Amino acid sequence: MPDYDAVAGLLKKHGQEHILAGYDNLSADERDQLLTACENIDFDWLEARWAEAQAAGGSAASGEIEVVPVVELPRNDADQARYAEARAIGEEQLRAGTVAAFLVAGGQGTRLGFSGPKGCFPVGPLSGRTLFQWHAEQILARSRRYGAPIPFYIMTSRDNDDDTRRFFADNGFFGLPEGDVIFFQQEMVPCLDLHGKLMLATPSTLAMNPNGHGGALSGLLRSGALDDMRRRGIEYISYFQVDNPLVTICDPVFIGLHVLAGSDMSSKVLEKNAPDERIGVVCSQNGRPAVVEYIDLDEATQKALGADGRLKFWAGSIAIHIINTKFVEQVAGGVGLPWHQSRKKVAYFDGETIVKPKRENALKFETFVFDALPFAGKTLNMEVAREHEFAPVKNAEGVDSVATSRQLLTRYFAEWLTEAGITAASPEAIEISPLYSLDAGEFRNKVTPEGFVFERFLLLG
Ligand code: UTP
Repeated sequence: MPDYDAVAGLLKKHGQEHILAGYDNLSADERDQLLTACENIDFDWLEARWAEAQAAGGSAASGEIEVVPVVELPRNDADQARYAEARAIGEEQLRAGTVAAFLVAGGQGTRLGFSGPKGCFPVGPLSGRTLFQWHAEQILARSRRYGAPIPFYIMTSRDNDDDTRRFFADNGFFGLPEGDVIFFQQEMVPCLDLHGKLMLATPSTLAMNPNGHGGALSGLLRSGALDDMRRRGIEYISYFQVDNPLVTICDPVFIGLHVLAGSDMSSKVLEKNAPDERIGVVCSQNGRPAVVEYIDLDEATQKALGADGRLKFWAGSIAIHIINTKFVEQVAGGVGLPWHQSRKKVAYFDGETIVKPKRENALKFETFVFDALPFAGKTLNMEVAREHEFAPVKNAEGVDSVATSRQLLTRYFAEWLTEAGITAASPEAIEISPLYSLDAGEFRNKVTPEGFVFERFLLLG
């Protein structure tokens, strides 16, 4: 057990001695837990964050932003030829086994309010297939298609790690080889109250949060996952978030465009549906590639139009990237990503009970994965069609909720049916497992429209 006096002295030196006020009431194990957590705090880091919070509200870079090139959706034969070339290159990499899938699933999912890891959320419009299952089945189907393993790395965090691992184990890793599913935990950082004080989450634990999806890069390095990738000959990481069942994981065209451009880190983008849509835009900032969050764009910039009458900053990033393993090594071993702070409601122990605040009472500090972009030598942005690639489950209701995600999935599969020459009387819900078909082309080749009777509900695979 850490020495009480030493820890108490450290806390006092940094004005945080209130944290031990209830120490005498704790059991031996709890005392150990609390002292260890306090001993592990990096006070230099914490004080730097608090100073930034008081000064300017975060250390995120600011500066003039400019438009950057985007490979837009194919519109003519030349574009189609470029796509075909990219696809062939991407497929070659997949067959060679140089691509890994990487899911960041360490977030707290507070907006959804689901108890348990967000990946266990049932999003399938008919079967209740979970987000984890969608992703795992897609990876399995793609690895079968190209006859090569696709190792699946999953970043969790302290509060959902056990449940995530158990969920995969209980479900037989959804058919993936167990040894190809690799979990690691990101780091946690302390929250502060609005006066710069540490908070207790329970009598013996500090209020902490995962260090943001930017923690993915240092996490890959620190956990040994990057070494594991190196051993397996992985060169390209297909990065995606847990909440989007429409993401194309290890997309061969995206990989191919990335390779052709000699890019270090590439991003999928879509056309924003309104100037104030809450997604970041790809751009260049201070001459470096970047994603600037919607809240950091003033209204005039959000609404500015280009010569073609389209929004000048139309290209919203949807957090789907290809990242070179070499680039992760460089960034994760380097100066580190900037920290962002946000005001959140954080439950805390007030000495007697756990209080769930009604208003924002705390500062959370996080890093963002797209803040690696300025460190890249080369980047590439690829436009995708919103309806083919983006159906996020963020909220319990309303915008980007489970209802909208299920609707979007149904609409997406309805397109496959139409393309395959199948007409549905009045489709209400359609769900097709990636194991049945990975894409519209595979589906078309598999089904015969004659005799395909379907009215309102269709579940395949
Ligand atoms: P979000 O920004 O949507 O955050 O994460 P969240 O924690 O899931 O949900 P809210 O904001 O509390 O409602 C986008 C993706 O990044 C991952 C999430 O798991 C999700 O896949 N993420 C986020 C991490 O892996 N770690 C983090 O620290 C934060």
